[in-house]
Amino acid sequence: MKIAVAGKGGTGKTLIAGTLARLFAQDGYKVLAIDNDSSMNLSYSLGIDEYIRQKIVPIKEMLDLIEQRTGQRPGAASGGIYNINPKVSDIPDKYKIYGPDGVQLLVVGSIEEPATGCLCPENVLIRTLLYNLFVQRNEAIIVDFEAGLEHLGRGTGKGIEIMLIATEPSIKSIELTQHILKLSKGLGVKNNLIVLNKIIDKAELEIITKKLKEIGLNSFHVIPFDPEIGKADLEGIASLDFNPNSKAILSIRDLFGKLKEFKKN
Ligand SMILES: Nc1ncnc2c1ncn2[C@@H]1O[C@H](COP(=O)(O)OP(=O)(O)OP(=O)(O)O)[C@@H](O)[C@H]1O
Ligand SMILES: [Mg+2]
Repeated sequence: MKIAVAGKGGTGKTLIAGTLARLFAQDGYKVLAIDNDSSMNLSYSLGIDEYIRQKIVPIKEMLDLIEQRTGQRPGAASGGIYNINPKVSDIPDKYKIYGPDGVQLLVVGSIEEPATGCLCPENVLIRTLLYNLFVQRNEAIIVDFEAGLEHLGRGTGKGIEIMLIATEPSIKSIELTQHILKLSKGLGVKNNLIVLNKIIDKAELEIITKKLKEIGLNSFHVIPFDPEIGKADLEGIASLDFNPNSKAILSIRDLFGKLKEFKKN
């Protein structure tokens, strides 16, 4: 099972990715969660202890490793040719950490200035690593992505089985969802599911459903707005641990069931 979560900033990507990772692990799957977001807080939504979280060094900041694998140190003046197909297959097992329910986490960090398409050594290493994770690994992989998908090169989405696109009830978010959907299909991802998050009530859902249908988006999963998620955040506790049966968490459990069914068929 290879799942990626994308969406506009603040739409709930990290909540969804972290909670799904825990639910898969609780169900007996071997899970490797990947943090590829610039805010790097997947460890928090997985419920990893604060003192362990403090010590995490993302792959993109491991300058020696990047230099060793690509032949060029990030930030150094370009020395000419370097390896654009670095060895990465050993990286997940070397640098992953363990969290509750046995979830494994690899904090990769984000790709800077994706729009420039920079072939900086750190970007090359991260793209190669993501591709390797999707295509080569046997675990259930769940990735918390950057806001958009611009950081992925062509072909790097090949192994992604389902792209979840977190969307909140705003025009900006719907516009970005349309954009991400296009990018995702361009990357070769066949299954894309819109996850409408933070829905306040039926009336709001009706308006948003109408807007989505107008642009040809007829199928989505709905997660309600849930004050328990905010309370968990203020207490510094993962939402799944704070209230495993709050309404947003119940809805993510439902999404987990759908993903499992999808895999079976
Ligand atoms: N269903 C919900 N009900 C209430 N609050 C929510 C819900 N989903 C997410 N939130 C809150 O919205 C905020 C953003 O959630 P989250 O960090 O998961 O989003 P994100 O897309 O990963 O954001 P970023 O782009 O900053 O990484 C958090 O404060 C979270 O507690
Ligand atoms: Mg996030």
